[in-house]
Amino acid sequence: MASQIKNIKNISVIGAGLMGHGITQVFAAHGCRVTLVDTREEILSEAIENIRSNLTLMAQRGIGQSDQIEATIERVETTLDLKEAAAGAQFVVEAVSEDLALKQKMFRELDALCPEGTILATNTSVISITEIAEKAKSRERILGTHFWNPAYLIPLVEVIKGQETAPQVMDAAFELLKQMGKHPVRVNRDVPGFVGNRLQHALWREAISLVENGIAEPAMVDEVIKYGFGIRLPVLGPLENADMIGLDLTLAVHNYVLKDIERSPAPSPLLKQKVEKGQLGFKTGGGFQKWPPHAAEQSRKNLLEHLLKWAKEREEK
Ligand code: NAI
Repeated sequence: MASQIKNIKNISVIGAGLMGHGITQVFAAHGCRVTLVDTREEILSEAIENIRSNLTLMAQRGIGQSDQIEATIERVETTLDLKEAAAGAQFVVEAVSEDLALKQKMFRELDALCPEGTILATNTSVISITEIAEKAKSRERILGTHFWNPAYLIPLVEVIKGQETAPQVMDAAFELLKQMGKHPVRVNRDVPGFVGNRLQHALWREAISLVENGIAEPAMVDEVIKYGFGIRLPVLGPLENADMIGLDLTLAVHNYVLKDIERSPAPSPLLKQKVEKGQLGFKTGGGFQKWPPHAAEQSRKNLLEHLLKWAKEREEK
């Protein structure tokens, strides 16, 4: 297998939704040929339009070149036929909906259809790679590559080892993602949520708990992060921060505060209640806060502008 996984140029992406189109863009923009698969033609055409509009916006902000947009798009082929996508693929990224049974079926089929040396990756956010691979025969070639949304602007990809993933498959995926301008990290133990989503949801659990217990209003919880320690996070992660302030102080803080921090193993009753009432956030006009359409639009715009600025700075480094 080792000799077959060098010089990867032919990629297939399964699922052309939010993540699939962004992942396709990353590979195509770095010179790979990509076959993108979904279940309906309209979804595939929309994905291509999304890629074109992302690349145009990036070029307007000085990220990438406008004269390369059409060449990038020409490297993407679309199809409704999984067999066709599997036939020539050296590396497949599955980005279908977050449903274990569907993903198991996809990997059983991909394993049967793809050539022997093809690496098969899932973009699952939280599901066990080992369970996703369970119904396939060649489980050593299956791993996780967890991109973050938007995949074309956020550099991190968690490269996750399932129980049976071969080390050379991990190495090949890691190298490929580096060549694609990403910042891959290795997750050597297949735990739910991997590293990024465990960290993120530990913070969200406490944020929701503070609101639920009447300690802070939702907007204020977010302000504490946006105007406080959130500003440091891009250059100072929590463990470097702990070393900076001293582990003796960190221990003293934990001795005092940890017993008071939320540690429920179940989702918050407040969160469940809001979902039952149909208060789902931006898409229903309100969740923890009210979101009239212009406010939701502004929030999305703020995020995109912030990420574009960040991507430009990264490109200039
Ligand atoms: P999405 O709903 O936008 O896209 C999923 C796509 O898969 C849809 O276009 C759907 O038609 C297609 N699909 C479903 N069954 C299919 C099949 N049998 N063959 C081909 N295509 C099929 O979902 P999204 O958000 O792109 O998520 C995809 C995966 O990425 C999920 O596993 C999700 O957990 C993960 N993910 C999502 C992130 C996010 O922020 N939305 C972030 C990181 C990972």
